[in-house]
Amino acid sequence: MCTNELLHEKFVELDTFIDGLEEKEGSLITVLHKTQEIFGYLPKEIQLHVARKLDIPAAKVNGVVTFYSYFTETPRGEYVINVCMGTACFVRGAEEILKDLQDKLKIKSGETTPDGKFTLDALRCVGACGLAPVVMVNGKVYGRVKLEQVDNILNEYKGEEA
Ligand code: FES
Repeated sequence: MCTNELLHEKFVELDTFIDGLEEKEGSLITVLHKTQEIFGYLPKEIQLHVARKLDIPAAKVNGVVTFYSYFTETPRGEYVINVCMGTACFVRGAEEILKDLQDKLKIKSGETTPDGKFTLDALRCVGACGLAPVVMVNGKVYGRVKLEQVDNILNEYKGEEA
């Protein structure tokens, strides 16, 4: 299937989801979650499509996308690494772990490596404070992470190349 057909199918899936909603008003966040699930990210053209379908201003859609850190306007890497920067994790060294990941991946928080493999993000408390400091990779939780473990965690995901 060519890229255009694939893209067309994704739009059809999104439109079917929106058309199936009983209540369109007030469903913007639900629709954006679904949209990001389908497309992987929320570029401006897709935000505009959502705005037209829901009959609301594009600025409103963009306001929600930029307000919630969960939503992203840029493509994500194959592996999304989240470092919790909530208070419990911060006092237990999350900042050093984030800095080490930034140095090793040569990207800043919020960015994706040029090969599309890793995206790095800092999050607020992820609700696992007892395990602080917490790092998550595609939802898999690593607790009480020490600086010396960072290489091992990265290698788990670089593994297939070796
Ligand atoms: S502060 Fe990191 S899990 Fe709560």
